[in-house]
Formats: sequence, C-alpha cells, structure tokens
Amino acid sequence: MNLGMVEIPNNWLEEIINLSAERIVVVNREGIICYINSAYCDFIGTTVESALGKPVQDVIENTRMHIVAKTGQKELAALQPIHGTEMIANRYPLIVNGELVGALGTVIFRNPDELRLYKNKIEHLAEELNFYKAKAEKEMKSKYRFDDLIGVSPSFLTVKKLAERISGSQSSVFIKGESGTGKELFAHAIHNSSLRASHPFVPINCASIPEHLLESELFGYEDGAFTGAKKGGKKGLFQLAHNGTLFLDEIGDMPLSMQSKLLRALQEKEIHRIGGHKSIPVDVRIISATHRNLEKMVDEGTFRQDLYYRLNVVKIEIPPLRERKDDIELLSIKLLEKLEKKFYRKGIQLSSRVIERLQRHKWLGNIRELENVLERAINVLNGNKIELIHLPLYLQEPAAETNHNQHNDTNTQTNHLAAIIPLTPKPLKEIVATVEKQAILNALAVANGNKLEAAKILEVGKTSFYEKCKLYQIK
Ligand SMILES: Nc1ncnc2c1ncn2[C@@H]1O[C@H](COP(=O)(O)OP(=O)(O)OP(=O)(O)O)[C@@H](O)[C@H]1O
Ligand SMILES: [Mg+2]
Repeated sequence: MNLGMVEIPNNWLEEIINLSAERIVVVNREGIICYINSAYCDFIGTTVESALGKPVQDVIENTRMHIVAKTGQKELAALQPIHGTEMIANRYPLIVNGELVGALGTVIFRNPDELRLYKNKIEHLAEELNFYKAKAEKEMKSKYRFDDLIGVSPSFLTVKKLAERISGSQSSVFIKGESGTGKELFAHAIHNSSLRASHPFVPINCASIPEHLLESELFGYEDGAFTGAKKGGKKGLFQLAHNGTLFLDEIGDMPLSMQSKLLRALQEKEIHRIGGHKSIPVDVRIISATHRNLEKMVDEGTFRQDLYYRLNVVKIEIPPLRERKDDIELLSIKLLEKLEKKFYRKGIQLSSRVIERLQRHKWLGNIRELENVLERAINVLNGNKIELIHLPLYLQEPAAETNHNQHNDTNTQTNHLAAIIPLTPKPLKEIVATVEKQAILNALAVANGNKLEAAKILEVGKTSFYEKCKLYQIK
C-alpha cells in the first residue's frame, strides 16, 4: 500500500479542525488574527468574519497570544479567564521553515463541572434551534408552486394545466389521486397561484383527528363550552382560513356526522362555534383531497352526496406514477437533488439498469414510494452511483414486482435488517428509531399508503401511528 498517495484535500482541513472540537486561534507576528475557528467564535460570542484581521487582544479576553507570537516561548496549561469561566490555554509559537511566523492557541475547559454547565446551555440552545428549524421547514412547505410539480408526461401536464387554469377561480376543488401522487402539493400550488395567496393556507388532515375533536378543530369553541375548554375559547380552522384556503385532506375519512356540519358551513358561508350562539361569517375557499373512491362511498351511503357535489365543483385527478413512465427518470433526478442537500452529498447518479428497473415497477405508493426508495439507496450507498443492489429487495428481484408477500420471507427480512442496521455501532435508541421508521414505511407500502390500514398491520393505535409518522417526518 502506498500511503504517500493518500492526501487530504485542502477544503477538508477546515472541517477537520472544527470537528476536533477545539477552540483554535492563529495570529501572525503582529498578533493579528489570521485564523480562528467557529467553535472559538461561538464560545466568545463573535463570528469568524468579524474576528479575522483584528488584533487578538481586541477579540479574546486576557489573551497572551500576541506575546507568544513575539517571544516564541510556548505557554502550556495557562489559566485564562474568559466570559467568567476559567479556561486552560495552550499557546504555541508557530515556526515554519525555521522561522517564527506567529502563534497558535487553543483553550479547553478547566474542570468537568464547567464543561457540563456549558454543555447544558448549548444543548438547550440546540434544542431550540431544532424546534425553529422544523417550524421553518413546515412553513416553507406552504410555498410549493406549480414549478415544484415535476413531470412532463402528457397525462400529468394536462392535469397540471387544468389546475393552473382554475387556480384563480373561487370554486371548490376536489383532488383525487392514489396515495403519494402529490395531492397536497397540488393544493399548495393552487392556493399560491390564487388571489388568496397572501392569505392563510390552512390544511387539516381529517383522518388524523379523533372524531370528537374534529368539530372543535374546524369550528372552534366559546369560553366554557365544555370542561377543559381553553379560557377565552378557541378559533377554529375555518376562521383561521378566513380570506384564504382551507385544505380538507383525507376528506373521505370524515365521519358522516361531521359531513352534515361541514355541508351546513359551506352552504351558509358561516360557522357556529361549539357553545356559541352567534354565527360568524367566513370567506373560505375549499380544496379537498382523498385517495378513496368517493363516488363509490356515495353509492354505499358512507359519504353524503350533497356534500360531494359541493366539494367536487372542479375535479383534479392526478394520474398514478405507473401511468407516467416518462416522468420516472426526471422525477428521480430531481428528488435526488433534494435528497443530496438533505444528506450533504453531491453528484449521485443512477445506473441505467436502475432507471430501467424503476420504470418497470408498479409504484403503488407513487412518488412518495419513489422518494423512500431513493432515500434508502443513499443511506446504503458507498460511492456515487446507485446500482440495483442499493434498491430494496422487492425492487432487486424482477419477479417480486407484483408480489409484496416477499416481505414475509425470513431471508428477505434478515437481509432487509442487515441493510438498515448500521455496521458501526450507534446508540440503541437511534437504531430502534431507524428500524421503527423502516417498519412504518414498509407497512405503508403494503397498505398502499393508507395510514389507518398500515396502523392495523403494525397493530398500533391510530393516534400513536400518526405521532410516529410525525416524529419520523413520514407524510
Ligand atoms: N409532481 C411532483 N413533483 C415532485 N415531487 C412530488 C410530485 N408529486 C409528489 N411529490 C412528492 O411526493 C410526496 C408525496 O406527495 P403528497 O404528500 O402531495 O402526496 P398525496 O397525494 O397527498 O399522498 P397521500 O394520499 O398519501 O396523502 C411528497 O414528498 C412530494 O414532495
Ligand atoms: Mg396527502
């Protein structure tokens, strides 16, 4: 093995220094900061940009770096109070080609208690940051536009054009499509292209809310409407969506009793809060969606016909992915670009055999299934090219295409597990979470995306299933 050939690219060095978690500063002979890492800056409450080029005494309390840069005498394990915390500083002269060119300094915490205190503080901040990140992400999601709807196949373009055309109208829109075909995306895009775009887009998933809460969610309640009611009452989603769009997702799962109340609100264009007497006028455009066959439900008497007519003024029917084979390669490429950002990867490609295999698959879970397959592939990928072996087993074997029973084969299960459980040991909690997420995704694939069915397969309650989906960001 020729070790001399292995070299670290320059742009890795910065990251390596940061990961080594030390607070590092480098000054030149004049004591001007010419390098400082972000860990140090975070600690002293500044930024790399503002610290660079400044005399070190102006940036770091009680520093002696400018002195070491002159004397060339190292100072090890020196106590240095920073921010009221006693730190241990190591200061080394920086000698390059036999010449003193400056100094390098690091600081570490003096005792474990202080480190722990600091860690607690940071952990708290990190938690807060994650919370706001997730929130921002969620809010960003309401920004889907028609440009985000990828597809060039004629059947998809026809639907997309129709949706664009009717965006501006006030009519109710009913979006029909199998699970994972992009119903939610269409709803966002329609709202964003409408005159209501600057007003709220309020989504509600009718399947995920227990029946007895649905009414108060939609219409709100007055102060003291029932025991446990929030003081001052609560606005319902109808009111929150005033002047905007209310997106009734999974409308096929709305119980009959609620269907009547919804119909009344739509006809009268006003709502009554629970426990309230006055009617509140609301101006809301309704977009509804379901993967269920509402016509059949109407025939069977489980969905009100009058409500169906009210909702179904404009019907948008999104074709399933298997009928849009032309879109699969393009979608995969675009989805990979999105995933690359998420996983900090670059230049991931699909082998032609993989593309050909993806085009032959039935995609019962549609684009969401495609997304999951690609995400899984990135997770097990070492190089940059996705090959057949990076696909889940049911996609590796041509015969398995229509046969989800493969999931029951013990061998398959073991291989599946081997693929998800990381070889490098990780905290058990993380492994369990990975396996749990995969189990949910598998159940969803088998249940054709139907969450209630998937919950039944896994023998867990509906509420806990939805909670887990939320936790693992499974939509
Ligand atoms: N045309 C598209 N272009 C790009 N991404 C898409 C497209 N259609 C769907 N997706 C992606 O596929 C996933 C599923 O889309 P979405 O949630 O809108 O499906 P859905 O029809 O509402 O499914 P369900 O019935 O299960 O709720 C999302 O992550 C979405 O970003
Ligand atoms: Mg949806």
